[in-house]
Amino acid sequence: MMPRLFFALWPDDAVRAQLASVAERLPGRSGRRVPAQNLHITLVFLGEVEAAVAQGMQHEAAEIRAATFDLALDHLGWWRGPRVAWLGAAECPQALAQLVETLSALARTGGLQPDDRPFQPHLTIARKVSRRPRPLAFEPIRWQINEFCLVQSKPGDTGSEYQVLSRWPLTCG
Ligand code: 2AM
Repeated sequence: MMPRLFFALWPDDAVRAQLASVAERLPGRSGRRVPAQNLHITLVFLGEVEAAVAQGMQHEAAEIRAATFDLALDHLGWWRGPRVAWLGAAECPQALAQLVETLSALARTGGLQPDDRPFQPHLTIARKVSRRPRPLAFEPIRWQINEFCLVQSKPGDTGSEYQVLSRWPLTCG
């Protein structure tokens, strides 16, 4: 079976704890919360990728020279179609948009067809949320991003399980 892969920003334990504490404050009937250990931001979803292509992309990803940046997750959002509640950043740093563009180009070079809709930074905290959640006030979560990852998604007994396959540092400030 081909692995199902995506590039992501993977929070460290301190940021993860802050994210989880905001996620816990969603009202109980707001769908199915994403388990704390699964919280992440998807940069580019690749889907099922042949092993040789995945290996080629890992080599290419290691060559990327991109800037570190700070992200402030500052509001709760909801999308009706995919029925997800998420934490978003009012401002998308230029370095983040650039990193997504670079990774999308890398995916296209590998013969994949990444999502070509404009990137909207968001971190999904609950799925199957069929109604807009009530507004939630919280201190913006400040996250210093200094690496990006390739992650594999596997079906588990209670939903998806994620495994970080590789991490690459962002090198310039
Ligand atoms: P989401 O959390 O915003 O729903 C792993 O499935 C990750 O890839 C999820 O975080 C999901 O984003 C994202 N993703 C983007 N496009 C996807 C797709 N077509 N199918 C599954 N996941 C997708």
